[in-house]
Amino acid sequence: MRVVITGGAGFIGRHLARKLLERGELAGADGKPRKIGEIVLVDIVEAAPFPKPDSRLTVMAGDIADEKFTAGVMTPDTDSVFHLAAVVSAAAEADFDLGMHVNLDGTRAVLEACRKLSAPPRVVFASSVAVFGGDMPSTLTDQTALTPQTSYGVQKAIGELLVNDMSRKGFIDGRALRLPTIVVRPGKPNKAASTFASSIIREPLAGQEAVCPVEADARMWYLSPRRVVEAFIHAHDLPASAWGWNRSLTLPGIDVSVGDMVESLRRVAGERFVKRIRWEPDPVIKRIVAGWPYRFAPERALKMGFKADKNMDEIIAAHIEDELGGKPVD
Ligand SMILES: NC(=O)c1ccc[n+]([C@@H]2O[C@H](COP(=O)([O-])OP(=O)(O)OC[C@H]3O[C@@H](n4cnc5c(N)ncnc54)[C@H](O)[C@@H]3O)[C@@H](O)[C@H]2O)c1
Repeated sequence: MRVVITGGAGFIGRHLARKLLERGELAGADGKPRKIGEIVLVDIVEAAPFPKPDSRLTVMAGDIADEKFTAGVMTPDTDSVFHLAAVVSAAAEADFDLGMHVNLDGTRAVLEACRKLSAPPRVVFASSVAVFGGDMPSTLTDQTALTPQTSYGVQKAIGELLVNDMSRKGFIDGRALRLPTIVVRPGKPNKAASTFASSIIREPLAGQEAVCPVEADARMWYLSPRRVVEAFIHAHDLPASAWGWNRSLTLPGIDVSVGDMVESLRRVAGERFVKRIRWEPDPVIKRIVAGWPYRFAPERALKMGFKADKNMDEIIAAHIEDELGGKPVD
């Protein structure tokens, strides 16, 4: 089978590709496992080569909002699409036109190209808990209305509705996952307002100093890279009947304060790592983070078999194992 990952040069896209190569199969349209023959990594930048070259990987560089390019990506033998390409939260907020271009026009172009295939492909779309905002209940449920308060959140909410409608029409077999903040993200800080949540763990463990721009009581809804990749694959492999008329859900996560994250770092790695965090509150970041939902009751997702991490200690230990070869830098 042929699998397309948009945003395939990005953080989650690469992790997902690696896991799919390792697994070697996905559910086909009839629900039975099928061997993956090709994974196409589509991105505006060329995906860097994988440490272990694999003949099943193809790289295509271009703009997903360019209809001609995206139509060319979705060759008739495409079975499944993971649509992850996006301009992330703070970048979409800073540049309205860019956010609309990639997150809205790009999503539309991807879905239209899918619609033109002879058989409706399975499409898994990366949405975000940023679709919620404003006056929210203390615990968000599967019934909480989408009331985004950022352009990024609006673009993701529209994407979800399109995935729902095109599935209802039978153009695609879509699924949309509202992702919590993913920690610990490897690499460098990015333009997401949440980037510090990874920095305060990743940098100290890599022997560097990190700046924490919020107070210890700031809370967020988290999921690890391992679990988010599992969730994408699980979402893909569930039959259409498990989704029914509602193709979107909020992924399970854990609600943790920044202070508790630091305690986890202390327990898992030790005091000398915690000392590398400098607390420098930034009013802008504090205000953005304070507006984010952090407590959910994701019953539908749990019933459908999606899983959260046990706790932050487990997430940090997994990061040390996966990204630091089992040993933090002293
Ligand atoms: N990581 C998180 O905490 C998180 C939380 C909620 C939602 N999400 C969503 O999950 C998805 C993946 O996130 P990520 O953390 O891997 O982000 P990322 O920024 O690492 O990856 C996104 C990729 O999209 C690519 N891209 C941007 N514009 C493009 C265009 N016009 N055409 C083709 N490719 C383009 C970028 O080059 C990048 O490689 C995104 O849709 C994001 O909005 C992520």
